[in-house]
Amino acid sequence: MATAAPYRRAPLWETITGILSPWAFLFLSLTHIPPTALPLLKSLSFRTLFSWSRFQPLWFASFWSIVGPNIRTGNDKPITSLLLGRVTKGKPVSTAEETNHPGIGGMVLEIGAGSGMWVNLFTPEQCTAKGSTPLPGQRTPITKVFGVEPNAEVHGDLRRNTAAAGLEDTYEIVPLGIEDALASGRIAEGSVDCIVSVLCLCSIPEPEKNIGLLYKCLKPGGRWYVFEHVRTFDEQGWFMRWYQALVNIFWPRLIGGCYINRDTTSSLQRAGPWTDIDLAQPPAEDWFHTVPHIFGILTK
Ligand SMILES: C[S@@+](CC[C@H](N)C(=O)[O-])C[C@H]1O[C@@H](n2cnc3c(N)ncnc32)[C@H](O)[C@@H]1O
Repeated sequence: MATAAPYRRAPLWETITGILSPWAFLFLSLTHIPPTALPLLKSLSFRTLFSWSRFQPLWFASFWSIVGPNIRTGNDKPITSLLLGRVTKGKPVSTAEETNHPGIGGMVLEIGAGSGMWVNLFTPEQCTAKGSTPLPGQRTPITKVFGVEPNAEVHGDLRRNTAAAGLEDTYEIVPLGIEDALASGRIAEGSVDCIVSVLCLCSIPEPEKNIGLLYKCLKPGGRWYVFEHVRTFDEQGWFMRWYQALVNIFWPRLIGGCYINRDTTSSLQRAGPWTDIDLAQPPAEDWFHTVPHIFGILTK
């Protein structure tokens, strides 16, 4: 069961700036329109400039090339811990002994890989626990990673980051949306050891259906490593639920088709029977987070 953190009483100024912060994020995205549009204008690429489906991925790639590395820096420790299996109750822990979760291994599916912000965590060095002895049977080497990413504008960076991590032989880019990757039969039922989803279930179409299909792709005992933003928790109160719905009117249009009020927690829980769900809101998040997260591991 995903739980929300017990919230602290934050200072008023911090609360106000926190509540208003999504508008700054949206504004930052808007500032990427001119640098995206101008080269298109100069090269007379009007088909791209005036086509929403062509312009939006370009715009988002420009925006994410700035925002993504900051998110990576701010979340380096938690995501590294997540992929090592060292998280519990929404928090990273420093030793494998504090959790029962193995780290990623075997056949791995990374959904919405983007520009490959996290690919270096798929290297054998990163996947090997540092600083403590792994639990018996805890480490399985990664045999293959499928990086599912439909936005062709980020494939160059994804390829470069994969090569820089020395993963050319292990990491294969699947240039499709997850819905098409699943429909193509390229990812067979019961074939996946681990699914990694970092900030992408907010953008996939028909989340309930596709999360259910992804569940079927996991082997029994397979694990889903999750860091996603979700609908506000009940504990955050009706105002934040309403406010998030308001922000969500603008958000998907300005942030590459990302929805902030998806009930991804329930979609994951309902996908099928899990033997273990260790999923919670990171305790550092406040009640006024318009974009609250779930963090943890589900085991089939
Ligand atoms: C917010 S970005 C996160 C990227 C990356 N996981 C990271 O943390 O830097 C969301 C990613 O999901 C991808 N995406 C959008 N629709 C998708 C779909 N249908 N299937 C898979 N990925 C999708 C976007 O192209 C984008 O790269």
